[in-house]
Amino acid sequence: MKKPTQRWLAALSLMLATGASMAATTAPDAQLIKQGEYLARAGDCIACHSAPQGKPYAGGLGMATPIGKVYSTNITPDKQHGIGNWSFEDFDKLMRTGVTKQGYTVYPAMPYPSYSRLSDADMRALYAYLMHGVPANAAPNRASDIPWPLSMRFPLTVWRWVFAPKPAPYVPAAGAGDQQLLRGAYLVQGLGHCGACHTARGVGMQEKALTDLDSNAYLAGGAAIDGWVAPSLRNEHGGGLARWSEADIAEFLKTGRNSHSASFGAMNDVVTHSMQYMSKDDLGSIAKYLKSLPPANTSAKPFVGDDKVAKALFAGKVDTTGAQLYLNNCAGCHRSDGKGYGKAFPALAGNAVLQTADPTSAINIVLSGGMVPATHTAPSALVMGGYAKTLNDQQIAEVVSFIQTSWGNHGSAATAAQVAKLRKTAVPVQGTTEASFAPGRSGTVPVPPAARANVMQQ
Ligand code: HEC
Ligand code: HEC
Ligand code: HEC
Repeated sequence: MKKPTQRWLAALSLMLATGASMAATTAPDAQLIKQGEYLARAGDCIACHSAPQGKPYAGGLGMATPIGKVYSTNITPDKQHGIGNWSFEDFDKLMRTGVTKQGYTVYPAMPYPSYSRLSDADMRALYAYLMHGVPANAAPNRASDIPWPLSMRFPLTVWRWVFAPKPAPYVPAAGAGDQQLLRGAYLVQGLGHCGACHTARGVGMQEKALTDLDSNAYLAGGAAIDGWVAPSLRNEHGGGLARWSEADIAEFLKTGRNSHSASFGAMNDVVTHSMQYMSKDDLGSIAKYLKSLPPANTSAKPFVGDDKVAKALFAGKVDTTGAQLYLNNCAGCHRSDGKGYGKAFPALAGNAVLQTADPTSAINIVLSGGMVPATHTAPSALVMGGYAKTLNDQQIAEVVSFIQTSWGNHGSAATAAQVAKLRKTAVPVQGTTEASFAPGRSGTVPVPPAARANVMQQ
């Protein structure tokens, strides 16, 4: 016969066991929540759904549109202000069609045309994370600043009918096909929503192509956002990724830098909050997929290094104002041969940023300066100061024209008028740090992804 204590212990363990199994039916298992967290990173939900000084996922970030500001919403599990009362079906419908639980259509600032490609399993994991891995927060939602009648939402329904694809969850191709390539396509076209910035937009502000099967416009470069151009991610010359290996792409996404370039503008947010968290395998898949995209611009010439300028500068032959300004202000870091210093000061010779007809990014970085973000695997943020105060419009145009056309670069010259225009909106670059930004930590959200704000609003 068992002693009373033994019996009591047996009863207790039975209770605990049933308790545990009951809990298991209400909260999904930790593994699923963790998977959802990874997917939320891949989708960069936090970058848009958190406001400066606000809590992660509690919404409130303003996004400028031509007709007024739209604010992102609270997607924490708070039952009153967040999505705590949303069933999986409600969430799934929003993510695939842009239609909320309340029945209206959201602004396509929320990139649901991309998220509609998620697999059912991934959508469930994402939902599990938002419901059980994110603390509820009672921040109320903010109405848009868009005045009536433009604030009426029915045109968004029409937009959705015309421009958003029929929602079709991704079904992995069975057996056939290169699985790594398919995984890369899934991440880039779906959660990564890379096309939101890197694909040009049409008359309705819709992305001209949502996948590589639609047309060559896919990832062939988007318009400037806040003075930064999101360049082509296709395997092409003239601003694309032709000179980058798969390993170079993966390194850039993980650390914000590689031997060709350093991240700036809106891409800093993508690296800091999203891509640095991707596994080695997933980064490899993304890189492989991007390298598989054939050139859209077939006439662009490859970069061929030319040492004429470097030799002239070395011999003290400085025959243009641009060259003189470069020697005085820039060569200390980027060197007279434009080759930079490893991953600390990016090379300008051959840099994809300097191979196109659009000098916007180059002008803006000279005006505003830049900061390569600190990441977990490359912890030092590297800074270039801005020259807005020390160089006038004509001088900046001269030095930018110099770097766009020296050492073999194929870029176009810049004009003082272009500089004057960008000067009006240039913001001296401040760094973002991820440290206080992750869900579950108590810190506030640092500088908002300002560039995000103007991304794609209609
Ligand atoms: C580029 C910015 C951006 C990104 C990235 C983004 N969202 Fe949104 N999202 C928005 C905006 C803006 C709204 C509100 C639109 C409106 O009110 O019309 C919104 C609305 C929503 C809503 C509707 C909430 C409600 O109460 O109506 C949900 C749910 C949502 N987003 C989930 C997500 C998830 C999950 C992710 C990541 C996978 C994500 N969002 C990524 C901008 C974004
Ligand atoms: C919010 C807008 C935005 C989104 C979303 C975005 N990017 Fe970018 N990206 C930019 C901008 C702006 C640049 C130019 C600055 C730079 O080169 O760092 C850039 C640059 C890049 C570059 C460097 C290209 C070069 O030639 O220097 C790569 C590679 C890249 N992005 C990959 C991606 C991938 C992959 C995704 C999706 C997972 C993505 N981007 C999503 C805005 C964005
Ligand atoms: C103190 C060192 C330093 C000086 C001086 C400097 N830069 Fe930079 N430059 C950098 C760093 C660091 C970056 C990367 C910044 C980033 O990614 O945000 C950079 C980035 C750039 C880029 C973008 C390339 C890329 O791939 O990120 C251009 C173009 C550029 N600099 C041009 C210039 C010009 C023109 C001058 C002189 C007017 C200049 N720089 C002066 C350090 C410097």
